[in-house]
Order: sequence, then C-alpha cells, then structure tokens
Amino acid sequence: MEDKGVPFVDLGLKHRELGHYLVAAIGTVLNKGDFVLGSDVEKFEAEFASYLGVKHCVGVATGSDALHLSLRALGVGEGHEVIVPAMTFAASAFGVCYAGAKPVFVDVSERNCGLDPVRIEAAITPRTRAILPVHLYGFPAAMDEILEIAARRNLFVVEDACQAHGALYKGRRAGSSGDAAAFSFFPSKNLGAMGDGGMVATSSDEVAARLRLLRNYGQPAKYVHESVGYNSRLDTLQAAVLGVKLAKLDAWNAQRREAAALYRALLASVPVGLHSPLEGTEPVYHVFSVLTERRDELQASLKAAGIGTGLHYNQALHLQKCFLDLGGQPGDFPVAEKVARQTLSLPMFPGITKEQVETVAERVRAFFR
Ligand SMILES: Cc1ncc(COP(=O)(O)O)c(C=O)c1O
Repeated sequence: MEDKGVPFVDLGLKHRELGHYLVAAIGTVLNKGDFVLGSDVEKFEAEFASYLGVKHCVGVATGSDALHLSLRALGVGEGHEVIVPAMTFAASAFGVCYAGAKPVFVDVSERNCGLDPVRIEAAITPRTRAILPVHLYGFPAAMDEILEIAARRNLFVVEDACQAHGALYKGRRAGSSGDAAAFSFFPSKNLGAMGDGGMVATSSDEVAARLRLLRNYGQPAKYVHESVGYNSRLDTLQAAVLGVKLAKLDAWNAQRREAAALYRALLASVPVGLHSPLEGTEPVYHVFSVLTERRDELQASLKAAGIGTGLHYNQALHLQKCFLDLGGQPGDFPVAEKVARQTLSLPMFPGITKEQVETVAERVRAFFR
C-alpha cells in the first residue's frame, strides 16, 4: 500500500464544516460594531461558566494573561513563590514571573505528566503562595491531592487548563476546582479562536471582580483607575466565534478520545511508553504522545513518510535558558527530563480519520520492526 501523509493537525477541517455559522456570528458583530467588551463577550463568558460549572468566567486576551491576572487577582506577587511543574509549556511559569513571583519547579508523574503530588510538600517554603497544576496534554492533574495540600498549607490553587477544555476530574470539569483557572483559546487548542484569546474561570465573586478591573486598565468606570491595570480583553469577534464552537467541544473531544483509543490499541505491542489518565478522569487528548529513547529517529522516519509530529516539550523548564538563573541542574527533575528526551506527539485533531490513525500507527510499528 502506498504511504499517505498525515498532518500533525488540520485546523481547516472543522472550520470548513462550521463556516456558515462562523461567518453569521462574525457578521452579527460587524453589524453591531461592539468590538471591545461587546455583548458576545458577556454571552460567551456566561456560556463557558455554565459549561465548566463555575460561577464566573472573565475573558482576557490570552491564556498567558489568564495565568498572570489570576495570580495578581489573588494577591500573588513580589517576594512570593508559586509551585509549577517542571514539564509544561513555558507560559505556565511565565504567568508567575509576570506577576513578579518566582516559579519553583516540581517534577511530574510519568503517568499523566502532571504535578507529582508526593513531591509538592518538599518544595513549599514560607514564601509559597500558590500551587499551579497544569492539565498537560488534556490529562487532568491529581486535583484531590493538590487541593488537600493547598488547604492544609493555606495556599491558592491556580489551574492551568489551557490544554484541557472539557476534560473531567471525578465528574467535574478541569478548571472548576481551584481558586482560579486559566484557559487559552489559541487556535490549535481543543476550543480555539481565530487568533489569540483567553479566559479565567473562578467561583469567587471577589476574584472575578478584580479580574474585570485588571483586564480593563484597572477601571471600575471610564477614566477612573483604581489600580495600574492592563489592556487584556477577549475580543468580541473571538468570543462570537468561540460561542459557535463551544457547542461542538464535547463532540470534538469525543473524536480525540476515539482516535487515542485506536492509537492505544494499535500501539499495544510496540515498545513505546504512553501516558494514561488518572483513575476517575476523562482526558481530552490535546496531545497524544509516545515515549521512546529513539525519539529523534522515529520523528525523522515519520517525517520521511509525510507524517507530522510535535515535541511537547523537548526541554524541561528548569533547563530552559530563561530559567537557568533559578539554579536548576540536569538531574533535578528526572521524570520531566526523561519526557523532554523521549516524547513525540503524533497527529491528533478532531476529525482525524481511522485510516489516518492506522497509517501513523503502522509507520510507528514498521519503525520498531
Ligand atoms: C499549558 C499552557 N499554558 C499556557 C499557555 C499560554 O496560552 P496562550 O498561548 O493563549 O498565551 C498555553 C498555550 O499556549 C499552554 O499550552
């Protein structure tokens, strides 16, 4: 059989399907002209809050801003430390730096690549103010354990749910159990905009009110500046688009889960490591990755067959140049470092076909034969 290529992601696919509805939603905003903090922002905030099961959602410009502003709204800043997993996208830790606090890295569990709860306590100091679990790849982190530690040590929990729209932790949506949670609507996310966008979810009236000020120049009313705020608002056009796409999120996540189940079945006898969800959680497979010491060779072999892959992520955060001044050394976080050396993300997107998954899995099997 002749090899067919498979893209790493195909963002056009679902947009073509929804084209008519998206154009109509954009047209409505064009007619109204309420481009900044317009009615669609409020409407989407309410819809997303109801979807997540939280009291408030506050739309901001990006997922990075959602993390930054959540921490600020909780009063985390200068002189404080925040516990962050050593394996995640760098922006998880950047949010802490933007707030003026220091990220303190903790290793992840190999099972779900989330903060390893048994390693958290050793990293807590008198300066620690918050724990920032990341639901990496769409696998919910060990929230019960993390919330228990946070409650006992009087710390905030800010969830980075930027890769986990719709994931479930023991029946609750990822992003609904911390003091605040950050979502990104970068186009390739499980729920993506047509550009940048972000959201904070919280059930605290106070935190939500602070966020509404912070995102809009610190203004409770026009030209009244209570604090040095920011310009970080979710665009009305993006909110309108996201409102259309939210209705599809569960179906798209189900398609990702189906593809993941097929990958698992087809790769069962292949010598690669696979992450797996914690008991009682339903992941949303933002990324489907395999772990192998022959990662670079496997990536090259798939590339030669026209198969797109990704590296999420090929460096642990404590070893990134931007964080070296925090004193991290190779060997500090062995699981994160192993993932960085071995991880390879395979094609995964809603609408990926059975044939595409079979093509990828067959190439992976052929590589190890
Ligand atoms: C885990 C994680 N945290 C934070 C971010 C930052 O989101 P954004 O790109 O919208 O700023 C992203 C995505 O880019 C992410 O994947």
